[in-house]
Amino acid sequence: MFQTAIVTGGGSGIGLETAKTLLSKGYKVSIWDLSCSLSHENLLYYKVDVTKTNTITQALKSTLSSFGKISVLINCAGITISSPIISLNSIHSLEDFEKVLYVNIIGLFDVCRQVARHMIDGVIINISSIHAYEGSRLMSAYSASKGAINGLTLPMARDLAQYKIRVVGISPGLIETPMGVLVKETKRKVFFKETLSGRMGRPEELAHAIMFVIENKYMNGVNFRIDSGAINPHI
Ligand SMILES: NC(=O)c1ccc[n+]([C@@H]2O[C@H](COP(=O)([O-])OP(=O)(O)OC[C@H]3O[C@@H](n4cnc5c(N)ncnc54)[C@H](O)[C@@H]3O)[C@@H](O)[C@H]2O)c1
Repeated sequence: MFQTAIVTGGGSGIGLETAKTLLSKGYKVSIWDLSCSLSHENLLYYKVDVTKTNTITQALKSTLSSFGKISVLINCAGITISSPIISLNSIHSLEDFEKVLYVNIIGLFDVCRQVARHMIDGVIINISSIHAYEGSRLMSAYSASKGAINGLTLPMARDLAQYKIRVVGISPGLIETPMGVLVKETKRKVFFKETLSGRMGRPEELAHAIMFVIENKYMNGVNFRIDSGAINPHI
């Protein structure tokens, strides 16, 4: 019996690497993203904006009619902004704060609630961030959104256990993706000093962890970090 997976944000970075890994292991994969250039015989792509509930509903309907059921959901779609809460002449844009929260947590929750109805004996993996724990200057919106993902893990795992659906959160450190390299060179150097490996993580190292969570059926209701010991990085 084939396995099926939905990967939000699968058009780039961690999601893209995960989609490729799943395809290489024989999964049928449905990527939901704003854009995607990957093609494969076992891949479906739907243009989904996770903040627009009807795009999720449509993509789910089409994915189900091709795949029949969903066994894995990986939520990688995410955005970040960098802004002080107050500065000499301005205050943090409420619109920007809302946008980050909308994509990273409300959109993620909408995907989870719609897809979970059609999952049997499956797993939901939500990509959070070490910013959920560490915070960073100028990262209030992003950190709040990732903290919310971590807060969602256990109640969602408890609610969905009766349907044999597991829920796990993964919090990466700084990863070499289009989002990761947005971090300024100077900040990255500081981060490298405070990371035990002295380098950024690689998307394939995240894909590897995601496969571990999919395969280890005893792993549930927990958030864990993949950050090479980046405790309290001053970034
Ligand atoms: N790269 C890092 O250093 C790092 C560290 C910790 C956590 N993360 C998290 O990992 C996840 C993946 O990030 P990445 O580094 O691969 O970044 P990325 O920018 O390469 O990929 C993010 C993907 O999300 C998609 N996306 C953005 N808004 C969307 C929306 N409204 N609807 C649908 N798709 C949308 C983008 O189009 C993009 O393809 C994110 O949730 C990010 O917050 C990344």
